[in-house]
Amino acid sequence: MRKIIIDTDPGIDDALAILLALSAREELDVLALTTVNGNVDVEKVTKNAFKILDVAGRTDIPVYKGNRKPLMRENSMPADCHGDDGLGNIGVAESAGVPEEESAADFLIRKVREEKGEITLVPIGPLTNIAEAVQKDPAFVKNVKEVVIMGGAVHEGNVTPYAEFNFWVDPEAAKIVFQAGFEKIVMVGLDATKHVWLNPALRELLYQINTPVSRFIHKVTRVYADAHWRQHQKLGSELCDVLVTAYLLDNGVIDTIDAFVDVETQGLCEGASVVYPVMKYKDKMKNCEVAVNADTGRFFEIFFGYLFPEYLDTVKKMQG
Ligand code: RIB
Ligand code: CA
Repeated sequence: MRKIIIDTDPGIDDALAILLALSAREELDVLALTTVNGNVDVEKVTKNAFKILDVAGRTDIPVYKGNRKPLMRENSMPADCHGDDGLGNIGVAESAGVPEEESAADFLIRKVREEKGEITLVPIGPLTNIAEAVQKDPAFVKNVKEVVIMGGAVHEGNVTPYAEFNFWVDPEAAKIVFQAGFEKIVMVGLDATKHVWLNPALRELLYQINTPVSRFIHKVTRVYADAHWRQHQKLGSELCDVLVTAYLLDNGVIDTIDAFVDVETQGLCEGASVVYPVMKYKDKMKNCEVAVNADTGRFFEIFFGYLFPEYLDTVKKMQG
């Protein structure tokens, strides 16, 4: 059983990543959600975290509200693919959930101190909260077991030709995290997530499965698919954050390389993750593993296998 804290900016793909994590009750112990400004502002993001927990029937999980803006810069524009409310504007009922008093960073610092070396941090939004915790507590880095991040890219960004959204929102925070000296960082970036698209056939299956969770996923991905068509003229949508959860459940779903990663914080390429494979750049010290590919079929077998196990055979047949 892996103890995890998901640091998140829901966000449609965040919602699916959280739902998948919560469905794997034997494998993952989701200790809490910490929220951060990203796809939409931190107030909306925090409300969305509670809405997702309501959909999952897991109102027992605490939510800690985090930073409302990046560490050292003014706020960025919200993402344009999650709807104004951040959850596809589908009118999910307001939640009665209220965030804990403690801030996200203070909770992260306290919890990893209480459970030294046991907790996996799963940031799937901008890294502001994680970087704040690094700066506030010198022992934080050593108390964390590992950090599995959705963010960055080896070759091509999605906000600029070089910058992926999470690192683009808060490049200084991303730089701090990669330079902090964590025991283990896994960077699941766009080079891998571009292989996990929810295509129309699989999305229609979610409708036909006809459970509250499957119908929520079907509805919430409508706006997401529309945005992907506008931006890429491609049908379906990229389940970026969900690949991180799938990796936690089956490491073999991605291929990784050992690398030294740094993040550009200014100029034309700000937000870019600069990835040096240590096999090639012998003078560089490894600071993380970088995902360079993902197995599409294996990913959707994980996704449907945990969320809707009775349809796993159907998915296997659909994927050929
Ligand atoms: O670039 C993809 C990332 O940006 C994902 O975390 C998605 O939720 C958006 O925040
Ligand atoms: Ca996200």
